[in-house]
Amino acid sequence: MRAGWYEKTGPAHEVIKVGEMDAPRPGPGEILIRVHASGINPSDYKRRANVKVPAEFPRVVPHSDGAGVVAALGAGASGFNIGDRVWCYNAQWARPFGTAAEYVALPARFVQRLPDRTSFVEGACLGIPAMTGYHAVHVAGSVEGKTVYVPGATGRVGAYAVQFAKWRGARVIASTGGGDAARATILGLGADVVLDRKTDDLAARLLAETGGKGVDLVVDVDLPGNIGLDEKIVAENGAVVSFGAASVPTLSLAMSGRKARNLSVHLIFVYLLSEPAFAATCAGIIAAEEAGALRHRVGGVYPLAELARAHADAEATTGTGHFVVEA
Ligand SMILES: NC(=O)c1ccc[n+]([C@@H]2O[C@H](COP(=O)([O-])OP(=O)(O)OC[C@H]3O[C@@H](n4cnc5c(N)ncnc54)[C@H](OP(=O)(O)O)[C@@H]3O)[C@@H](O)[C@H]2O)c1
Repeated sequence: MRAGWYEKTGPAHEVIKVGEMDAPRPGPGEILIRVHASGINPSDYKRRANVKVPAEFPRVVPHSDGAGVVAALGAGASGFNIGDRVWCYNAQWARPFGTAAEYVALPARFVQRLPDRTSFVEGACLGIPAMTGYHAVHVAGSVEGKTVYVPGATGRVGAYAVQFAKWRGARVIASTGGGDAARATILGLGADVVLDRKTDDLAARLLAETGGKGVDLVVDVDLPGNIGLDEKIVAENGAVVSFGAASVPTLSLAMSGRKARNLSVHLIFVYLLSEPAFAATCAGIIAAEEAGALRHRVGGVYPLAELARAHADAEATTGTGHFVVEA
């Protein structure tokens, strides 16, 4: 099969190769997918670029997310038929061979039905970004009738968080550092209010928008960087869900002087959800997609032969949507 891989960590154009390698065979309980689209996430390019840590495997076919068609079932695998359209997650989480290839074999629990309305390219966006956005919106309880604040709403995860929160009946206040074009994009995703994180007094605006009460939930792309704000604007019994840490790796939380009493903080990690959380998350994503509630922001589609360029472009941009490779 055609596949892309790296055998040592480093810059995309130096370490990524595309060529022929043996196709995987599905083991017991595994599904073999003929991959048509493979999604790139920050974890994929950060891991490949991190020269401080050697690659975990002699050869890594990157990418956890993808979409395609069931090509074969391993012994005992069930729930799918050959030819079914599917999407998948965790393909290259603690495993050497991910979706940047014509075929991937992986445990059936990482394979999900792809709705008829969803293209393979869109299906390749549903793994890490949609699952993180969905879990972040739901992990602290129902958001129906509540106010959710999503900074970084042009991000892959942030854009889904906006849409899942709206779909579940929340009022969504978002912010962006991307200016007028980003603001228009986020309003198009359904946000009720979009603030400018570079020019607005966010604390004052968020409190004004909530009648001084504060927001019920923050879905935070950079909790260490934003905790000072969050402490001012989360309502009593509110929650902060963190999925990223862009600025500094250490969180400093005020034990007094913060607005929210009974504040809960959730540090989520999508690769290691509990099995019930995985099931609820995937079912919820499929339901939202079938209801037409999701827009997928695709920033670039590349042929597999240009995997290195796709990685370099994904790495060089932020807030422009998903980068997908077609195999
Ligand atoms: N914990 C997990 O399981 C998990 C899962 C997925 C991703 N992640 C991590 O989450 C991060 C984002 O992933 P992504 O794919 O959504 O990236 P992305 O598409 O590049 O989006 C990141 C967004 O963050 C915003 N941003 C950057 N710095 C910010 C700050 N200080 N305050 C507020 N917003 C800020 C920018 O939005 P604006 O320009 O609109 O402000 C940008 O669009 C990455 O570090 C990734 O590794 C973690």
